[in-house]
Amino acid sequence: MTNLLYSSTSFAGVPLRNRIVYPPITTGFADQEGKVSDRMVEYYRQRASGGVGLIIVEPGVVNPQAKLSKFSAGAWADDQIPGMAKLVQAIKNQGARVFLQLCHAGPKANPRVNGVQPSSASEKPFFFKYPTVRLSQDQILSVVKDFVEAAKRAREAGFDGVELHAAHFYLLSAFLSPLINDRIDVFGGDNKGRAKIVQEIIIAIKKKVGQDFPVIVRYHGYEDSADGLKNRDAVELGEIFRAAGADGLHISAYGVPEPELVGIAALPSSSIPSKDHPKAPFVKHAAYIKQYVNLPIIGVGKIIDLLDAEVSLQEGKCDLVAVGRAILADPQWPNKMAANKKVVRCIGCNNCLNSLAKGALDCRVNRGL
Ligand SMILES: Cc1cc2nc3c(=O)[nH]c(=O)nc-3n(C[C@H](O)[C@H](O)[C@H](O)COP(=O)(O)O)c2cc1C
Repeated sequence: MTNLLYSSTSFAGVPLRNRIVYPPITTGFADQEGKVSDRMVEYYRQRASGGVGLIIVEPGVVNPQAKLSKFSAGAWADDQIPGMAKLVQAIKNQGARVFLQLCHAGPKANPRVNGVQPSSASEKPFFFKYPTVRLSQDQILSVVKDFVEAAKRAREAGFDGVELHAAHFYLLSAFLSPLINDRIDVFGGDNKGRAKIVQEIIIAIKKKVGQDFPVIVRYHGYEDSADGLKNRDAVELGEIFRAAGADGLHISAYGVPEPELVGIAALPSSSIPSKDHPKAPFVKHAAYIKQYVNLPIIGVGKIIDLLDAEVSLQEGKCDLVAVGRAILADPQWPNKMAANKKVVRCIGCNNCLNSLAKGALDCRVNRGL
């Protein structure tokens, strides 16, 4: 079998040494002003040195009142650019290419951190205890500007492109999803209306930052709830993003049980399949969208074995594969797998996720990270 995973390619116009992506994984390693720390640089340098082709760095938050947590990295201020530039250089020096994920936490923002109520497409709270503000149309346009300014900073810092975080029920995802967006204005209703905020952001970034600056969109190919997004909706959304100028798609999903959550968060699902879930449960959604939308697509979700990654590519289900927790557990995963060496295996305990609630990322099988 030819080896596609380790063959070079071009994604969104960016040359990559292979088809392995390290997806955005929040570390909590930035400082309280959202600036990149030395620890953060070293963490990403290690992952780049492990042989991955593309790193999508964890969210650069677009507005200081839209942080995911106290230690969210930021892309809202110019004095955050030098730290970002150092991070970019450390990654590129190791031969990997690098995108920055841009995010507004929306309904998942923590008012105790941000000092304001969470805001969203509707008043529906993500976490019951925090009343949520429905954004006005003027406020939506201001969010669009925040994304554009953040993308400008990312380009200045040397990032090869940006990824819009429109998954996992952060702000852009809340707009896309019928589970949260109940608006009757131009930013709601059908797929076209719910996609409008993302569409406007893509168009504005291309206009103000450069047509040649790659923009990709991460969103749900499927939401496991009767009224959630289905594959057909995801195709329509993908086509709207493509027509607006997007250069690629990154297909996550909301579709495996996570019973301990409440509220909208209690949808019978999560985006981070654990040890109890089957392997690669979301790649089928990427594959569906790929049949209809003419853009390169990243597949993600519990792809932990070389064969699963290779088969997904061979069968044309996606163009790149993202390997998150497996590379968190062993940054050398790409190089070791290529050399048929033993890796430190992710055990799917999701301690990484739980550790973030306490501040910084921790991994049970890679304590030093
Ligand atoms: C600790 C942790 C933090 C994450 N943070 C983000 C994030 O900031 N943005 C995002 O889009 N996805 C985030 N994810 C989801 C991952 O990018 C990825 O989609 C998910 O872990 C499934 O891939 P995997 O099975 O290869 O780990 C996070 C996942 C984990 C485990």
